[in-house]
Amino acid sequence: MATFKVSRIQTKPYDGQKPGTSGLRKKVKVFAQPHYLENFVQCTFNALTADRIKGKTLVVSGDGRYYSEEAIQIIIKMSAANGVKCVWVGQNTLLATPAVSAVIRERVGKDGSKASGAFILTASHNPGGPNEDFGIKYNMENGGPAPEGVTDKIYENTTTINEYLTAEDLPDVDISKVGTTSFSGPDGKFEVEVFDSTDTYVKLMKSIFDFEAIKKLLSCPKFTFCYDALHGVAGVYAKRIFVEELGANESSLLNCTPKKDFGGGHPDPNLTYAKELVQRMGLGKSNTEGEPPEFGAAADGDADRNMVLGKRFFVTPSDSVAIIAANAVEAIPYFSGGLKGVARSMPTSAALDVVAKALNLKFFEVPTGWKFFGNLMDAGLCSVCGEESFGTGSDHVREKDGIWAVLAWLSILGQKNKDKLNGENLVTVEDIVRQHWVTYGRHYYTRYDYENVDAGGAKELMANLVNLQSDLSEVNKIVKGVNSAVANVKSADEFQYTDPVDGSVSKHQGIRYLFEDGSRLVFRLSGTGSEGATVRVYIEQYENDSSKISRDSQEALKPLVDVALKLSKMQEFTGRSEPTVIT
Ligand code: G6P
Ligand code: ZN
Repeated sequence: MATFKVSRIQTKPYDGQKPGTSGLRKKVKVFAQPHYLENFVQCTFNALTADRIKGKTLVVSGDGRYYSEEAIQIIIKMSAANGVKCVWVGQNTLLATPAVSAVIRERVGKDGSKASGAFILTASHNPGGPNEDFGIKYNMENGGPAPEGVTDKIYENTTTINEYLTAEDLPDVDISKVGTTSFSGPDGKFEVEVFDSTDTYVKLMKSIFDFEAIKKLLSCPKFTFCYDALHGVAGVYAKRIFVEELGANESSLLNCTPKKDFGGGHPDPNLTYAKELVQRMGLGKSNTEGEPPEFGAAADGDADRNMVLGKRFFVTPSDSVAIIAANAVEAIPYFSGGLKGVARSMPTSAALDVVAKALNLKFFEVPTGWKFFGNLMDAGLCSVCGEESFGTGSDHVREKDGIWAVLAWLSILGQKNKDKLNGENLVTVEDIVRQHWVTYGRHYYTRYDYENVDAGGAKELMANLVNLQSDLSEVNKIVKGVNSAVANVKSADEFQYTDPVDGSVSKHQGIRYLFEDGSRLVFRLSGTGSEGATVRVYIEQYENDSSKISRDSQEALKPLVDVALKLSKMQEFTGRSEPTVIT
């Protein structure tokens, strides 16, 4: 057994190591600076109580992006030096973010104990490669991202750090092979266990969904299926679950081999970046590929996001969570006892609210960021939740879950078609969504993103919108000047949230303009970018007249979009005449 010593390495603080919505995300070049990653990791150890570190097991893995291998070796050595007893690593550095959450909550080590937390190495949907992004975040023993109290402490530590602990002489561990390597250090034995990336997660999915029912659907020749992992970590799970467990054809998988640079693409599952899937599903500009599949889905780099498509049909994430909530009890065994409650983030459309009301479910509106759902789930208040940003999930883990969302949709499709698999036409994704709109009304919805704009300009834009809120008559003058058919703004505010579980207050969570007819305009600065600022504009209009629910979404929302651009003086403050992405 190789032995190691603990070294204390002198270091100095780096500016800007403040974790954002989901951890610290920076260019690889920033992370690769001497001691940069080490500083952040040590500050995390220092921010956690000793009982979470000393003699404990930590998970370290991620989406396999560029710099992950180097980072894992660094974190293994630092864990050894900080008194951690065992580090669990997904084979080849790979674990989907929801799978990390599942591993923390479910996996039991050889000594019968569970992991106390995890370093997740990902920048989610941001591109990867030597000139792109790397990221790291810490998840706690409940499987969810560290709460603000901890991330604030980490940040505070990064401003004063002067040394970190590492085991310089610990040899690199081969993380390509499953198995355990043991070392001997000052505190006794230290182990690194490399394990299969999918086992724990697959077991959990099998306990939630009726795999036999989904298998029947996938084996029906009329039901065609396509899944695009955008070269992220979801590919590993897609192969195991959709192909090996559920019998889908291997050819239904697109870009399912994880790559460090995501094949040069932008691993974000939306209509702009999931180009190949969009084309295949008949939603591309030219439609040359023959009959599209009945169902298509994509994931982001770390597999927590999802996009669901039907044949020539886009399901908005806001509709997706509402439809899953409306059908969960009937279609998904895990929910057969009923839903404890549902929740959405503030900018997500109110489609879920309508379902909650109709089904008499507890309902919560939280700020953007999955961690806010975690508290509700830990308190047993929420079963299903979702965000407009292509995140959907449930209380089976404490992260959003891209594969889970696909299995949820396949379960709903399976349930709606269970008597139709041998003859009649199948109920399609589009049928399910349209029927939902007939029952609950439709929330036309779109989001405009202005990426990487000048941070100063973005700040001024937001400040101007806050200012404007004090004078609604002035606001309505502007609204009517753009389009007299648009309803009046009845109230406007900055969203603020008081957590019903711990009473913590989150301020400045986005600017809202609420219209008399139930329409909403929301403006926010993204918390996940790594450069400049990203302005997001969320535009929503409710329609419950069933003769008006089939319009083209962009066309239906055009008047509100015009109002949003005028109110915010978008071009003036950002210099942009067009958004970077429309979803
Ligand atoms: C991550 C978080 C989500 C959040 C999303 C968008 O995926 O986990 O909870 O909705 O980022 O955040 P942003 O601040 O970029 O709008
Ligand atoms: Zn992600």
